[in-house]
Amino acid sequence: MKIIFATQNQGKAKEVKNLFERTKIKIVSLADLGNDIDIEETGTTFYENAFIKAKAIYDIYKTPVISDDSGLEIEQLDGRPGVYSARYAGESCSFDDNNRKVIAELKDFSHPHRAKFISQALYYDGGEAIAFVGELHGRIIDKPRGSFGFGYDPIFIPDGFANTLAELMIEEKNTISHRAKSFEQLRAKILAKAQV
Ligand code: IMP
Repeated sequence: MKIIFATQNQGKAKEVKNLFERTKIKIVSLADLGNDIDIEETGTTFYENAFIKAKAIYDIYKTPVISDDSGLEIEQLDGRPGVYSARYAGESCSFDDNNRKVIAELKDFSHPHRAKFISQALYYDGGEAIAFVGELHGRIIDKPRGSFGFGYDPIFIPDGFANTLAELMIEEKNTISHRAKSFEQLRAKILAKAQV
């Protein structure tokens, strides 16, 4: 069974492909399809944006689609960057720009800077959407460390760990991450539905 993953984020694509390895589902990313569509995320919740992305891609290919809308919520910043995590420092900002902005905004707050990642995973095949949420709790540090992963990984230390997410191999991140939690539930539902 083939499912398209509606993302242009190569870090997310790698993680989710890894989570579906050794199942009968083959995950195909937009990059694999040579599609560089930029879907406008006009929603105000993770669910709305996940649905917008999945439906936009389903309407093109008429093939089952999964999507992920995710972000980082920092307590001392009243939940920011939240749904605006990808473009927090501006329209065409880099991951480093976002990390610098977060560190600057936390400058006058005391440690620990409690935070959580949220992933909204969603499956859509033209019928009713299936969706699950996963969370990963931890704290933000002010000196980025590590080169794996993407986004805010270099400044996020999960609870119970000494390393940042960017210092963990993908397999290790996939045992604890918000995305692993949401997609493991989604994977079980999809496999049951497809009986594969
Ligand atoms: P979107 O879901 O494509 O709107 O963007 C999610 C954004 O949240 C990413 O671009 C990252 O900035 C951040 N993010 C989500 N999940 C992770 C993660 O696992 N590690 C680091 N940053 C993440």
